[in-house]
Order: sequence, then structure tokens, then C-alpha cells
Amino acid sequence: MSEQFDFLVLGGGIAGLFFALKAAEHGRVAILTKRARNECATRYAQGGIAAVLAKEDSIEAHVADTLNAGADLCREPSVRLCVSEGPERLRELCDYGVQFTRRADGLLDLTREGGHTRRRVAHADDLTGGEIERALIQACDERENIEFFPDCTAVELITLEKISRSAGRPNRCLGAYVLRPSGDIDTFLARVTVLATGGAGKVYLYTSNPDTATGDGVAMAYRAGARIANMEFYQFHPTCLFHPHAKSFLISEALRGEGGILRLKSGETFMEHYHPMGALAPRDVVARAIDSELKRSGDDCVWLDMTHLPTGYLIERFPNIHATCKAFGIDMTSQPIPVVPAAHYQCGGVDVDLDGQTSIPNLLAIGECACTGFHGANRLASNSLLEGVVFGHRAAKKAAELMDTPLDAIAPPWDAGEAVPSDESVLVTHNWEELRRLMWNYVGIVRTNKRLRRAQRRIEMLREEIREYYWRFNVTRDVIELRNIADVALLIVDSALRRKESRGLHTTLDYPDRDDSLRRDTLVTRGEIERPF
Ligand code: SIN
Repeated sequence: MSEQFDFLVLGGGIAGLFFALKAAEHGRVAILTKRARNECATRYAQGGIAAVLAKEDSIEAHVADTLNAGADLCREPSVRLCVSEGPERLRELCDYGVQFTRRADGLLDLTREGGHTRRRVAHADDLTGGEIERALIQACDERENIEFFPDCTAVELITLEKISRSAGRPNRCLGAYVLRPSGDIDTFLARVTVLATGGAGKVYLYTSNPDTATGDGVAMAYRAGARIANMEFYQFHPTCLFHPHAKSFLISEALRGEGGILRLKSGETFMEHYHPMGALAPRDVVARAIDSELKRSGDDCVWLDMTHLPTGYLIERFPNIHATCKAFGIDMTSQPIPVVPAAHYQCGGVDVDLDGQTSIPNLLAIGECACTGFHGANRLASNSLLEGVVFGHRAAKKAAELMDTPLDAIAPPWDAGEAVPSDESVLVTHNWEELRRLMWNYVGIVRTNKRLRRAQRRIEMLREEIREYYWRFNVTRDVIELRNIADVALLIVDSALRRKESRGLHTTLDYPDRDDSLRRDTLVTRGEIERPF
């Protein structure tokens, strides 16, 4: 079966929904989500959205903080554009019905997070992303031009280059093959296809991300021949709850913004030895400091102490974190919270220009799966929701310009070949576990060439097994996700091996210093990756 839309959006987080609302003014939009409509990383964003809103703040200060956190690898035009357009987009979020927390005088309550020199983070208690999803989905439901397809997983992008009969015509993206809940794989064609698939936290064993974060956009774009940038920069959030059943629940940086203190088991503080901003240093610095203290002491976790703050204030300001910790037997009003770093945010992604255009015509990418250059080598806290709305808006303008693209291409239906139902699903669960564990052990916060090469060899073997399985058996969501995290894992390792310096989130013992002669993006396209080093 084949569906046709003007705009096909893969992913229902802030960037995809914001794009859809704007694009719906120009044509029909389909939004595909792998699970429920709101099940995505945005929904779990706690801290908030950074924008210059306070009198004491300035565009220059937000630009400087972003460039500083990004370890001199941000693309400055992208930073200036995102920071300058941010306040207007935030007002539009309010118009779409997002209820941010307000002070008694009616102004937005602004919090602080690591790396920010001003209070500039608008939030909805400690459930900002959940509130944004609620409001934007409701706004989408009010538009006739927007249709949701939940429980649908994109398998592969369709490009003119791929379908042989178009030989000689300039390449462009035509849409995607999509696995429906029924198990059928259908063709979704569109004038413009938008990747808004989020990050790939599930590539690591411990992550703050939901199960949907399997790098689908990057993996599909890479396989389709798009340019991928800076995948070595994977951000680890310094403070996730350390508890065997907590699935790395995020303990927002806003806690440190409001005065939280990081302590060792002995009660001693340590961040003052690592950075003048102490516990509010940029995230890469705090995560490395915790990693180094844990390696030195052999402890399992460090502690985030909020007990000096008034009980009533903590419960009101952080209701979700308070309740979740309580459910795990930790009362943050009277005990420090045990915390560890976990994989949190993909700073690289599908390489795009300032309108979200990838290197494949009619394929746009926005949000976490895209690399706009805004985050450089390390993202500043709460800059990601901002990037999602600014680039969602800009990509919608670009998509409107592409409305004259004909919808006449005929893509062949999905060819299942000789595939049969699987009798070996154990391979999927085993490889899923092995891949994530080896990424955690060999490609984590501090790297070495030896460990990266070891990881590379093992990932190559796993990819070979997965490839074989993928062609032999009927495609399922689990196999699609496994194949995608394996491709993304290799892109991370490949990019990390290419960067022969330590910068931002990429720290390697073999090249411990920053080398400004190497200050450039790491760009990878298909075909290069199998090259030996
Ligand atoms: C947090 O609340 O600490 C996460 C915010 C972010 O990742 O930007």
C-alpha cells in the first residue's frame, strides 16, 4: 500500500511537531511515531528551554556561553541565529498553549543550569518536555492538515538514486518504507521528508533516554548516502539516579542551578578542584570530574545534596524528581541523591545547513538527529529544545519552498524477498545487550585508541550478523532498531578514531590536549566507513 503527503515527518518530539504545525499552513503533513504519539525524548526533558528573556541577559551572553560550552567547535552563524530567533519561537510556544511556570508577577520563572552565566531557562516545573508535548500534540490535533501514524517505524529512506529506473535524474528523497503495526511494510511518499527522530542514547548501556532513542534518522540518512557530522561528541549527563531499578532516571541540572551541591561519599565537595564554575561548570567538565572521582575512589556513585534547601520549596519546584526519588526510597529533602553520569544527548548528527537541508535534496533533518553546528563539541544545557523550535520553524519555511517538487515518482513496493518469520530472536536480544555494553565500556567518557579499535572490530562483527539476520527474516521493530544502533555505534567509533585530540565531549588518553590545527568538523559519508584505519 502507498500513502502520499506533502510532508512526511519521522518523529513526534518538539522539532517534528513544531515543524508540522508550521508546514500544515502549506500542505498535508504525516507524523510517524514509533510508539505512542508522545513517546520521545522531549517528553522526558526536565530542565527547560534556554532563551534570552530577562532584562539582565543579552544575546551576546547566550552566544558566548554556547560557544564556550561547545569548546570552540560551534558554527557561529548557527549559534547567532538560534540564540537571536529563540525568544520569538518561545513566545510562539506560549501561543500554542505551553504553560510555563510563572512567577507571582506573571513573568516566566527562569532557572539556571550548567555553563549558563545568567538565569535564562524557561521551564514547566520539572516536567517541561511533557508539557510541551501535551500542548503541541493538542495544537496538531486542531489542524485538519496533520495526521498522526503511531506505532509506525521507518525502515529505510527512498531516494531516486536507490530506485534504479531513475538513473541519470538528479537524486532526491522520495519518502520512506514504513513498518505498520500489522507487520506490513508500506510506502510513504512525500515532496519533503523530515528526519526528527531524536538521538541514540540506547547505543549505550546506561542512558537517560527513552527506548525510542535508537539513532534511526542518522542510520537511515547514512545508509541513503547523506553526510553525517561530529558523531564522536556524545554527551553524558552528569547526574542520573543511581538505583538498580531507576533506568538512569534524570536528575535535572536545574537542581544544581538552584543550589545543589555535589559531594563524595565522605561528604567532601570536589567540583571546585575541576572548574571555576564548580558544580555549574559545562556538562562535559562535570561528567569527566565525576568519572575521574569514581575511578579514583572505586565508589559506585557521587551524591547530589539538596538538603540545605527548604523542604516546601523542593517539593514545589521539583515535584516529579521528588516523587520519583521517593518511590525509590530516597527523600531528597533529607538525604543526598546518589547520582552517576549516563548517555544523554547526541551533539553530532545528519549534517544540515541553516534551513535543516541535508546533503540529499528534499530530505531535511531537525532536532537531536541533526547537526546544525549549534552545539559544537558539547551542548549547553537546555539549548536542545531551543534548537528544535528554531530549526523546526526554519525547516518548515524551506519545505514550503519545495512544494513545487512533483509527487509523481513511483517507488517500487517493499521487497521482502525470501524472508520468513524468525526462529532466532535470541540473536537480537543478545546483540542488543552486547553492543550497548561494549559501547559503554570502550567508547564512554574517556577513550583510548586501543579501546576504540577493539570496539570497532566487535561492532563490525555484530553488524555482519545483524545484516544477515535482517535479510533472512521478516523485519520487526526490534531488528530495525538493532540495525540502527549498530550503524550509529560504528559512526561514533569511526568519528572518535578520526579526531586525534581531546575536545569537548571527546576525551582520549592518546591525545589528551586540544589541538587547534584540528579544529574542524568530522564528516563521514557511506562507503568511507568500512575503510580500515
Ligand atoms: C536537565 O534537566 O538537566 C536536562 C536539560 C538538558 O539536557 O538540556
